[in-house]
Amino acid sequence: MNVSHVPLPATVQFAPDYPVETQRLLLRPFSRGDVDAVYSYRSRADVAEYLFDPPMTHEECAEAVRQRIGQIAFSGEGDKLLLAVERKEDQRLVGEVSLIWRSVADAQAELGYILHPDAQGQGLATEAGRALLAFGFEVVGLHRIYARCDARNLASARVMRRLGMVEEAHLREHMQVKGRWDEELIYGIREAEWFAR
Ligand SMILES: CC(C)(COP(=O)(O)OP(=O)(O)OC[C@H]1O[C@@H](n2cnc3c(N)ncnc32)[C@H](O)[C@@H]1OP(=O)(O)O)[C@@H](O)C(=O)NCCC(=O)NCCS
Repeated sequence: MNVSHVPLPATVQFAPDYPVETQRLLLRPFSRGDVDAVYSYRSRADVAEYLFDPPMTHEECAEAVRQRIGQIAFSGEGDKLLLAVERKEDQRLVGEVSLIWRSVADAQAELGYILHPDAQGQGLATEAGRALLAFGFEVVGLHRIYARCDARNLASARVMRRLGMVEEAHLREHMQVKGRWDEELIYGIREAEWFAR
């Protein structure tokens, strides 16, 4: 997919040059044609198992893609980069990766990632996550980036560790999700740790 020029509003403070290219991936803005690809993984019970949201319908995926089309830059607190993860070798959209600007004053952001099961086990979430950490620390100038997962989500915790994140907290039964008490792990990496790598 060629994303040579993405028009951005004048209020934007930080945005990557799209597409963000890694060894095997392009991270790019979502477009209207992505709904079926998103549905192919967000509709699956195995993908949703440890997410806050249950499996999504096609209509919910269409609405999510509509929202994501504009989630490509940081203008202020709460803004999200929500990018499609496209495999270069076959131009297939295999997942999504996100960075949310949680605090401007304290320079903090939250990372997230979801892959289609076909694309798991190859290091692609780590590769995509690393690109967003680079953007956060090297372009935005963030101080700390964290990620959260269900304590049972061992694959996600492994991604965080591969990214150089350190376990900071284990929240015990801190809220109810899908009718059961949720246990959550929080991992984080600080600016100094990123640049020391
Ligand atoms: C969380 C999730 C993205 C992790 O995916 P993943 O494929 O395990 O993670 P990566 O893409 O980093 O791949 C790492 C795995 O690929 C293997 N791998 C194979 N080739 C590799 C390569 N070239 N480079 C790095 N790792 C490679 C690694 O050994 C590792 O396997 P292991 O975890 O069994 O040791 C995936 O499980 C997922 O989408 N789950 C559903 C949604 C979800 O829960 N998202 C997180 C919410 S907090």
